[in-house]
Amino acid sequence: MKILVLGSGAREHAIVTALLAEDAGHEIIAAPGNAGIAADVPVVSLDANSPEDVTNYAFENNIELVVIGPEAPLVAGVADALRTRGIPVFGPGQAAAQLEGSKAFAKRIMDEAGVPTGRAVRADTLADAEDALDTFGAPYVVKADGLAAGKGVLVTDDRAAAAAHAEHWLVHGSVLVEEFLDGPEVSLFLVSDGHTVLPLAPAQDYKRLGDGDAGPNTGGMGAYSPLPWLPDGFVDEVIETVALPTVRQLAAEQTPFIGLLYCGLIVTPAGIRVIEFNARFGDPETQVVLPRLVTPLSMLLFGAATGSLAGMPRPEFAMDVAVTVVLASENYPDAPVTGREITGLDAAAAVEGVHIAHAATALDPSTGALLATGGRVLSVVAVGTTFAEARSRAYEAMGHIRLEGAQFRTDIAGGVA
Ligand code: AMP
Ligand code: GLY
Repeated sequence: MKILVLGSGAREHAIVTALLAEDAGHEIIAAPGNAGIAADVPVVSLDANSPEDVTNYAFENNIELVVIGPEAPLVAGVADALRTRGIPVFGPGQAAAQLEGSKAFAKRIMDEAGVPTGRAVRADTLADAEDALDTFGAPYVVKADGLAAGKGVLVTDDRAAAAAHAEHWLVHGSVLVEEFLDGPEVSLFLVSDGHTVLPLAPAQDYKRLGDGDAGPNTGGMGAYSPLPWLPDGFVDEVIETVALPTVRQLAAEQTPFIGLLYCGLIVTPAGIRVIEFNARFGDPETQVVLPRLVTPLSMLLFGAATGSLAGMPRPEFAMDVAVTVVLASENYPDAPVTGREITGLDAAAAVEGVHIAHAATALDPSTGALLATGGRVLSVVAVGTTFAEARSRAYEAMGHIRLEGAQFRTDIAGGVA
């Protein structure tokens, strides 16, 4: 199959790696990609957020499947444009992508579909937001309504900070004040063709910058999969109570969800609650989910894109486990320092069971040096037969990598047995 993968992160590198691992002779092209993706497959410089550019490129180059990695092209309507031209695409249209793009939309869909989620109040003024803060009490949860690149959410015991966060984001639109949900967090990905959903393996993401969940929220500093501590029947319960009702609700509204339904869940003492949906693969969870996938990824993505998942067996996963640790630039997430050289990747990748998924990397055009070009630079991914093994491989590999000022967490998958 001739497949175009849109995006430039470690998630897209993981998708490309999984497609190549099928050994099916797929022709894979990425746009715009990064230095690591470019080392594996051809990349084209295409504006991934332009419905017209992507559609023209896919049409002229006989692309048989477009896989949309990030949320921005979804919200920009790239999937809609491709579908209009009859090109199979893995990724929801603009309307269904609102599930991620608008927290208020997601709440409405969950209410209509009876999906268990935290109570929330939408506020358009500071006075309303403050009333809601007092109704729910501490810890306070305040969210910007709309894409805020992971920066829109504040969870704090400090009422003044919660109010200040609400005030800041009210300038850009509404805010949601939510009930605090207590319990471990799980990311479950489901491949959806608009009607049928197939679950991938659950993963856990580490959203805070520092060890022990200290510091600011980030896009994700590490992950592991599977989650041996989950109760039996967890995945079936999420399918029945969360994923299917959501997909049915969107289908009933004539905005079918075709793509990756990312369920961000908290396992509270009172049961499973949704804290967020995303309309795409998660990063860094994808880096630990896909290396264990035994079922050909292209079959799932193409099956979803063409409405043919019904009757397909659930995806199979290998028995081993996977751990990923994200390497971030100095001053990430506030103002990452970019342009510095990264070395030691060959030695890192030589550690048994380890590979590197690139994110913000590029080659210096004059020297050929590998440079860090953004906040989250790369993911070190390790598989092993036990978490202790995968973890020690990941950190051994990390020890070989040099990037001035770089940050990474040292406690990913710590204590998981
Ligand atoms: P979100 O962007 O909605 O996923 O929120 C980012 C992070 O904030 C989540 O991954 C959680 O760790 C935390 N969070 C969000 N909403 C809640 C909530 N209602 N209760 C507790 N923690 C939350
Ligand atoms: N890992 C969180 C996200 O992809 O949104």
